[in-house]
Amino acid sequence: MDIRVFETDAEVAAAVAGRVAEAIRARPTLVLGLAAGGTPVATYAELRARFAAGQVDFSHVTTFNIDEFAGIEPSHPGSFRQFMQVHFFSGVNIDPHRIHFLDGSAADLEVECDRYEKAIENAGGIDLQLLGIGTNGHIGFNEPGPALVARTHRVRLHAITRRENAALFSGDVSRVPREALTMGVGTIFRARAIAVVATGQRKAAAVARAVLGPITTHVPASLLQLHGRVELYLDRAAASRL
Ligand code: F6R
Repeated sequence: MDIRVFETDAEVAAAVAGRVAEAIRARPTLVLGLAAGGTPVATYAELRARFAAGQVDFSHVTTFNIDEFAGIEPSHPGSFRQFMQVHFFSGVNIDPHRIHFLDGSAADLEVECDRYEKAIENAGGIDLQLLGIGTNGHIGFNEPGPALVARTHRVRLHAITRRENAALFSGDVSRVPREALTMGVGTIFRARAIAVVATGQRKAAAVARAVLGPITTHVPASLLQLHGRVELYLDRAAASRL
C-alpha cells in the first residue's frame, strides 16, 4: 500500500482532492466511486472550492456511491443520497444523470443490487474509488464477520455502525436503519485504483489492523493489502499505530 501521512485533516483533504482533480484532468470522463461519512466531508469541501475556482470540471464525470441505508427513500434527510447532495453534488457541476446511487427503498432489494452491479459494468468500471474505514474495520458496509460477499448486496448493520451513523438521524440510534445495501468487496476490488482516507485517533487501531494485520474477513479493510493500487491518506493521529 502507498501510505501518505499528513499533519492535519485539512492537509489530508487537500491531498485527496488534488488526487481526484488530477485524475479528472487526465481523464475527464472519470468514473469515480464515492463514500459518505464524516471523513470525506473536508475533501468534498475542498473539491467544491476547486470547482468554484475553475480548477476542475465535473461535467463528464460519472459517480457511484458505495452504499446506502435500506428502507428509506433517497429523499430521506438521513440517506447518504441527501448527505452527498448537501456536502458535494450541490456545489459542483456533475450531471445529475451521471450520479448513481443504490436505492434503499426499491421494492426488490436483490434486483436493485443486480441493477447497480450492471450499471457499474456498463459505465466501464470504477477508475478511482474513495473509501473510508469504519472503526470496526468495515469498508463500504461490508461488516466484519466469518465471511464476506463479493457482489453488491443487502447487509445487516452492526450495532457500532448504527451508533456511528446516529447523527444522520437526529442522534437517535433507534431511527438508524438496521439494514443497508453495499458494493461487495469484489465490486470494490474491481476499481482500478482505491484511495482510502482515515483521520483521527479513533481510526488508528482499524488502520493498523488494515495495514499490518493478517488478511481476514474479521477486518474487511485488511483485504486491501491484496489490491495492487491502494493509496492510504492518513493524518498523524490515524497513522499513530503504524
Ligand atoms: C460510507 C461508508 C463507510 C464509511 C465508514 C467511515 O459511505 O462506506 O464505510 O466510510 O463508516 O465513516 P466515517 O467517515 O463517518 O468515520
